[in-house]
Amino acid sequence: MQDWFNHEGHICIVFELLGLSTCEFLQQNHYAPFSLEQIRHMAFQLFRAVSFLHRNKLTHTDLKPENILLVSSDFNLEYNENTQRDEKKLKSIDVKVVDFGTATFDHEYHESLVSTRHYRAPEVILDLGWNQSCDVWSLGCVLMEFYVGRTLFPTHDSQEHLAMMERVLGPIPAHLLKQTKKQHYVHNERLKLEEDISRDTYIHKHCKPLKEYMQCSRDDERQLFDLLSLMLQYDVVRRITLEEALWHPFFIPIRAKKKQCI
Ligand SMILES: *[C@@H]1O[C@H](CO)[C@@H](O)[C@H](O)[C@H]1NC(C)=O
Repeated sequence: MQDWFNHEGHICIVFELLGLSTCEFLQQNHYAPFSLEQIRHMAFQLFRAVSFLHRNKLTHTDLKPENILLVSSDFNLEYNENTQRDEKKLKSIDVKVVDFGTATFDHEYHESLVSTRHYRAPEVILDLGWNQSCDVWSLGCVLMEFYVGRTLFPTHDSQEHLAMMERVLGPIPAHLLKQTKKQHYVHNERLKLEEDISRDTYIHKHCKPLKEYMQCSRDDERQLFDLLSLMLQYDVVRRITLEEALWHPFFIPIRAKKKQCI
């Protein structure tokens, strides 16, 4: 915060001027995905920022492309052979996390419903209680969105959202479905089946198993997807922490570069 003032009864906060949000940039760039190198760079910065919050007993709770801003949205135009279109290529991929309006300290009251729909962790939907690990899930969804160009779970409904998760990540563990207070999502310790055939078709059309999103099977693509599968674990006990994630092999090229600079 650089400053604040009162404007006709409204408290206004002054921050540094940043560029477009990654969400706006994707929209304005015909949803062209970010490159793997760009994702690596953004992920490293995001993990460092959010793991700093986590070390300080805070959970952001609303990580999404709207809340990840480019420091500068200056770009060059580059022709893409595949889409036969000029695409914007950012000159710098530096990002910052914003909007701490719902950031929550460990000792504070935890609202039962947090996050924006598409980035909401399964433990939040199932009302099992949450902590820092819900940010890890959100960031997993965000990185997938950067990689694909579109949201991973395009839905507005919790039952459908859970069904989409199962399509992408496999069955939700029975012990989580047993614990949930939201028993109307559950039947025989399994997620209730979609009764509506057209909805089932919609899910099948818009979601697929995680590894099938891979555009090629180069080593670094496989490392990205290994990291994503650790971030998108249903069970928070098995989900990777950001501290651990920063040491994942996906970031070896960044760590190697940093060493050279010293
Ligand atoms: C979050 O909760 C899970 C399950 O209770 C626990 O294993 C994990 O250590 C917690 N994480 C943090 C950062 O407190």
